[in-house]
Parts: sequence; C-alpha cells; structure tokens
Amino acid sequence: MPQTNQVPMVHPVSTASLELNTGARIPQVGLGVWQAHSGKITRSAVAEALQVGYRHVDTARIYGNEADVGAAIRDSGLSRSEVFVTTKLWNADQGYDRARAAFDASLKRLGLDYVDLYLLHWPVPGQRLESWRALEGLFKEKRARAIGVSNFLVPHLQELTQACEVVPAVNQIELTPFLQRRETVALCKRLGIVVEAYSPLTHGKRLSDPAVIAIAEATNRSPAQVMLRWGIQRWTVVLPKSVTPARIIENASLFDFELDAKAMARLDALEEGLVTGWDPANES
Ligand SMILES: NC(=O)c1ccc[n+]([C@@H]2O[C@H](COP(=O)([O-])OP(=O)(O)OC[C@H]3O[C@@H](n4cnc5c(N)ncnc54)[C@H](OP(=O)(O)O)[C@@H]3O)[C@@H](O)[C@H]2O)c1
Repeated sequence: MPQTNQVPMVHPVSTASLELNTGARIPQVGLGVWQAHSGKITRSAVAEALQVGYRHVDTARIYGNEADVGAAIRDSGLSRSEVFVTTKLWNADQGYDRARAAFDASLKRLGLDYVDLYLLHWPVPGQRLESWRALEGLFKEKRARAIGVSNFLVPHLQELTQACEVVPAVNQIELTPFLQRRETVALCKRLGIVVEAYSPLTHGKRLSDPAVIAIAEATNRSPAQVMLRWGIQRWTVVLPKSVTPARIIENASLFDFELDAKAMARLDALEEGLVTGWDPANES
C-alpha cells in the first residue's frame, strides 16, 4: 500500500454533550428531520449527518420518516449505542393503551429495539397525564432509555411534575433569540430537565436579521451558526433541520468559536415572542 503523509480529513464533529437526569448523555447538536421528505431525501440527509459527525437524530411519528431514519442509521456502519435517537408520540395516539401501541409501531418502523428518548409531542388536554403513565412504563422496561415532553410550558410542567413518578429528562420547545421562553427554561433548570431548542433557525424567518448578520460578520461565521451557538452557550440542545449537505456540516460546526458576552447580550435583546409553528401557550 502506498504510504502518504496526508493527515486524514477531520470532519467538524460535535463532541459536546449534556447529562440527562437518567445519567445518559445527549449530544448537544441533533439533526431535525421534520419536513424532510420520506425516502431518499431523509436517508441521504441522515447518512450525510452521521458521516460528518452528528450522533443524534430527532424524528417523530408524524414526520413520516422513521423508517428512513432507522435505515440510514443501520447503513451508517455505526453501532447502535453511538447514535442518540429520539421519536415522539403523536396527539392522535395519546391515552395509555394507544400510546403503548404507537410506541411499538414507531420502534418497528425505526427497526430498533429501543429509543434513546421518547417524547410526548404536545400537551394534549385531558390525555397528557395518562399518556405520561404509558411513557413511564416504557422507561421502566428500558425500551425508552429516557422519556420527556415537548411543547410543555410552565403550567403544563407544574401539573405533570406534581403527578408523575418519573420527572421528564427533556423538554423540547421552540427556542431562539427571538423566542426565549425564559420562565419555562428557568423552571426546567430548577427541575433538572434538559431543554431542547426546536426550529433553532427560526424556520428560516430571521436568518437575515441585521443584528444576527452583524455578529456573524464579526465572528466570521454564518447567521445560522450564530443562532445555534447562542443555544449551545445557553446550555440547550439544538436541533437544526437541513437536507442540504453543506448546511448539515455548517450547522454542526459550532465548537471552534465562542460568542462573547456582548454578542450574547445583543442576541438576548432580540426577544420578540416569535412563534413560527404552533403556540402551546394556547393549550390549557
Ligand atoms: N417538537 C415539536 O413540536 C417540533 C416542532 C418543530 C420542529 N421540531 C424539530 O426541530 C427541527 C428543526 O426545526 P425546523 O425544521 O422547524 O426549522 P429550522 O431548523 O429552524 O429551519 C429549517 C429551515 O432552515 C433551512 N436551513 C437549515 N440550515 C440552514 C443554514 N445553515 N442556512 C440557511 N438555511 C438553513 C432548511 O433548509 P434545507 O433543509 O433546505 O437546507 C429549512 O428550510 C425539526 O426538524 C424537528 O426535528 C420539533
């Protein structure tokens, strides 16, 4: 074999992780796959992400691409324990028995025998506590290595933590400099719940904000990297979605620069209550 002095290309791997209340660690950057079409597009995006160093994928039953996520993980050659996989219980499947059946169906589509994290996708009124009991059972059976919630704000979390046996490991909420949910984040911190930021790029709506662009220019980074790095420095998990190879790499290249206190304060000042998806504040 010819000898070369070439150093192997080092991919921008996101190595940082946070500890969950289960003791497991969650990689701080995960690939989101909402609106990634099922089939080749999702498979290629997940394959690309795993190849460049992502070790965390965030899917859901309602995204319709669990099977592609599972296939891409299997094809990656990585061992199961190296990849953190999240899926979620959809609203129509809430309720004790339906939740258990939906979980089995998700595992089957993923082709896995456990998930690293199973989330209640939405605080469905009248059903969320019963659904949570089902998730607690799946956690005890170790088929969901951690369980958590999504779109839970302060009243939802207070209700749940008064009734639950297992405190959620994670709360996945929409979170950006433009929507900071400070009370919810503070409560999660007090309860030891890791916050995951979804739509961390504002679903594309504020990537050309002048303050974000100014910070990006000053740090020689992209606007997307600035928004994601804000989330990293706020000790959240960030879940950027992209099916574009160059952006997949860009969105995980977050650990070789830092935003200084002035830049963080400038980003903090962008709060405007921007909800790009659905607002759980309207859910009693
Ligand atoms: N729990 C929930 O209720 C909930 C709700 C919403 C989202 N989520 C999770 O959060 C993930 C991310 O949220 P999201 O999909 O709403 O939005 P997002 O990540 O904020 O934005 C995604 C959009 O930004 C584009 N994009 C990605 N990287 C970019 C870059 N570096 N520069 C410019 N544009 C870029 C993507 O385009 P391309 O793909 O074409 O590159 C896509 O159009 C979801 O996939 C899902 O896993 C959860």
